[in-house]
Parts: sequence; structure tokens; C-alpha cells
Amino acid sequence: MDKQQATKDIYSVTGEEKLGTINLLSQEQVDKMIHQTSDAQSDWADVEVYKRAEILHAWADNLLKKQDEIAAMVSEEVGKGYSSAKKEVARTADLIRYTAEEGVRLHGEMLKGDSFKGGSANKMAMVEQDPLGVVLAISPFNYPVNLAASKIAPALIAGNAVIFKPATQGALSGQLMIEALLETDLPENVVQCVTGKGSEIGDYIVTHPEIDMITFTGSTEIGQNISQQAKMIPVVLELGGKDPAIVLEDADLELAAKNIVAGAFSYSGQRCTAIKRVLVADSVADELKEKIQKEMEGLSVGQPSEDAAVTPLINTAAADKVEGLIQDALDKGADLVVGNKRENNLIYPTLLDNVTTDMDVAWVEPFGPVLPIIRIKDEEEFVSLSNESQYGLQASIFTEDVKKAIRIGAKLDVGSVQYNAKTERGPDHFPFIGAKNSGLGSQGIRRSIESMTRDKVFILNL
Ligand code: NAP
Ligand code: G3H
Repeated sequence: MDKQQATKDIYSVTGEEKLGTINLLSQEQVDKMIHQTSDAQSDWADVEVYKRAEILHAWADNLLKKQDEIAAMVSEEVGKGYSSAKKEVARTADLIRYTAEEGVRLHGEMLKGDSFKGGSANKMAMVEQDPLGVVLAISPFNYPVNLAASKIAPALIAGNAVIFKPATQGALSGQLMIEALLETDLPENVVQCVTGKGSEIGDYIVTHPEIDMITFTGSTEIGQNISQQAKMIPVVLELGGKDPAIVLEDADLELAAKNIVAGAFSYSGQRCTAIKRVLVADSVADELKEKIQKEMEGLSVGQPSEDAAVTPLINTAAADKVEGLIQDALDKGADLVVGNKRENNLIYPTLLDNVTTDMDVAWVEPFGPVLPIIRIKDEEEFVSLSNESQYGLQASIFTEDVKKAIRIGAKLDVGSVQYNAKTERGPDHFPFIGAKNSGLGSQGIRRSIESMTRDKVFILNL
């Protein structure tokens, strides 16, 4: 007789409602699924690219048909305001379509032999981009639809099969998204969703011999663990961040404050690209602080069902962490400007001024609604403090002085520099890179497809 399937009930972020139940798959079950997916891959790679693209377009259509249902689940499962959740689904449909369009133009290249000294015009190389095989896509809780599809779609268009491991809190949303894909003409087993706790099955899938590539978005801790375990297969990692908003003394402070508040507090700061520290020139710090505080008054705080911008954090441990960071800063002499109020896992948006480098909140990624202001004396300190972080995802520079902006931007150890705007990932076809402990490799639609292919060279000797 079969052993009883282990399961886990998934509750809404507020803990009030049971949303569904997921299977906690055993290693044997996962092994069987990976094997099936590996078997399905070569036939999928043989499907014409335009047909693969049609399947992706059908997936996008289905997502939009189910937009309300999926958004409702995202909203409750990960505590995101309903309108943001709807935008996540629509953005995902757009991303899938763009991926399909980009994929059909993956033509490889042709090289002539005589462009290298000593080479010969009689030699010609045709380079095609082959799929890698089975891609393992591991996604985090905060964009359970978008950050999963942004791995699955490029893998599929390039001819790979996919094992998808969603975050446990986020798995029901991920499963709905996969349902929309399985309702297309996608052949059986080309994509399979593996549910279970990362701490229990994670190491097993990451080291499985039939996994040919890993694309992971999540915390730096887990990402580092994955990169250490994966042997001789490509790994792309998008990890944590501590993005600074660098505000120079000639900045448009109104613009800076608006962008800082939107960047720091939307979805309660649970975005890798959230602004997580403000580094501001001493001479304008008071004025900026007042403008940020005023802008924060417009933030809606409440429940996902109320469509609030700041909602309860994903779990109690996350809220405890943020509360601890605030308390540590206050104990060490930071000034509380506004906030530091908690109701269960709902942390009110909190602004701390006069934060210094001995405080944890100056360095630790809170993944919650707390924003430290650090006052800076000169250009050198802007760069050194920015770069002292273990992270290097993005940075924003606010200034009217283009030369200074470019000079400082060039010295920052980050994947992207935003000038006079908040840090953010989109538009989704831009390259998206984490430097240092923020990641490995590059994403963004074109880059993601390329990361899931391998060049194969056919050399004609004429
Ligand atoms: P997380 O705890 O690292 O989890 C991410 C995923 O990894 C989940 O699916 C998780 O499954 C799985 N996992 C856990 N242990 C694993 C293991 N040993 N092997 C393989 N997979 C394992 O991250 P999170 O809390 O969901 O997301 C928040 C973090 O992600 C933040 O640090 C944030 O900055 C980062 N993030 C980065 C980006 C970016 O693009 N740079 C985007 C979004 C989020 P379970 O849920 O079952 O544990
Ligand atoms: O949480 C990490 C996401 O990649 C951030 O995306 O900047 O569009 O919110 P976003």
C-alpha cells in the first residue's frame, strides 16, 4: 500500500483563512518527476520554435483570463495589496509574450575564419544556441507568479524542460500559474512543479544529476548554499540587496523624497530592489527628512484586502527581525522620526534618522518597512559607505549634476545605477544583475534566455 502523502496547509498571511493544501513531496517522488521531465526534454527541444512561442502566448492569454483568481490568491497568500497582485499577473503575461518574441529571433551567428590573423577564408563557423536540458527554477515568496514565470518562460522558449520549485508560502499562487500553462498544448512533463520545504528537499534537487542548470531568486544565504553545492552546471542567482538612495546636495529633494518613499515602502519593503538606506549630504539632510516624512503620511497601512501599500509581513520571524533592527538602532542612539508601531506582523512604516555604521540597520537587509537615514560628509564617503555593503544590487543617485552623477555611478559596485529615480527591476527586458553577494550572472528577458542555452559550433571547412 502507498504511504500516505505528506501535506501542508497554507494559510493567508494574516493567518485567518486556510487557502489550500500542498503536497510535501518525498525525495523518491521528486526523483521520479525529474526523471520524467528529463525524458520529455529532447522532444520538446525538437518542437519548432514558433510553436513553442505559440504555447507561451497561449499561457499569457490564460493568465489574463484567470487574472482575478490568481491575483486574489497572490494577495492573500503573500499579503500583497490586490491591485499590486493584479499588476503582477498582467506584468507576467507581458513578460511571457516578450520572451516568446525574443526567443523566435534567437538565430545564432556566423563567423568567417579570415577575420583572425592566420585564419582562412575557407573556414566558417555556424554558432547555434542549444538548450541545456532540465532547468531547475527556484522562486521566492514575494513575486510568486512573476519571478517564477521569468525563469520558466525563457527556459521553455530555448527548448529546455523545467522543474519548478516555488516558495512554500507562495506555492498555491505558483500552482495556479502552472495550471494556466498546462491548459495550453504544452506536452506532458515538460514542466513539473515540485512542492515541499526547501530545507527538506532543496539540497536534494539542487544536486540531482539530471538537473542541468539552476536559476534561483531568494536570499543570499540560500543562494550561496546552492552555488557551493551545484557541481559543473551553470547557476544564475538573484539574491538580497541593500540598495542605497544617494542624495547629493543639489538634488531635487521633492523628487528624491517621492521616489525614496515609493521605493522603500511599496509591498512593505519586501522587494529585493527596495531602497533600504538613504545616504544624504549633511547640508540637505534635515530638509530631505521632512519631505520623506511628509510623503510617508500618504502611505496606506492595513490589510491586503484593503489594498494597502504596507501590509503584514510574510511571517512572524520576518516581523521580529524588523522590530529587532529598529530596537537595535534606537538603543544605539538613532532618532525615531515616525513609526515603530507593530500589530501582529504588521509593522508601520518606520523612518530612522542619524543612523550610524555601528547599527545593524545600516547593513542588514530588513525586507520590511524600515528606512535608515545616514548623513554623509563628502563624495568619497558616499562611495565608500555604499560599497562597504556585502550587497551590490542597485543604487539610486539623486542630483542635477550629470557629470557628478556619472562619476559616482561608475565607482559603485552594483549591477545597476538609477539616476533620479527609485531602484527597481523593470522594464523586464533590461539586464538585471546583482554584484557581490547580490547575485551571479545576469537576468532580464534576453539575458535569461541566453543563460539557459549553450553555444554549439559547426565549422565548415570549404
Ligand atoms: P528564501 O528563504 O531564500 O527562499 C527562496 C526559495 O528557496 C524558496 O522557494 C525556498 O523554499 C527555497 N529554498 C529554501 N531552502 C533551500 C535549499 N536548501 N535549497 C534550495 N532551495 C531552498 O527567500 P525568500 O524569503 O522567499 O525571499 C526573500 C529573499 O529573496 C530576500 O533576501 C530578497 O532580497 C531575495 N530576493 C531577491 C530578488 C532578486 O532578484 N535579487 C528577488 C526577490 C527576492 P521554501 O519556501 O520551501 O523554504
Ligand atoms: O524582489 C525582487 C524583485 O526582482 C523586484 O522587482 O523591482 O519590479 O519590484 P521590482
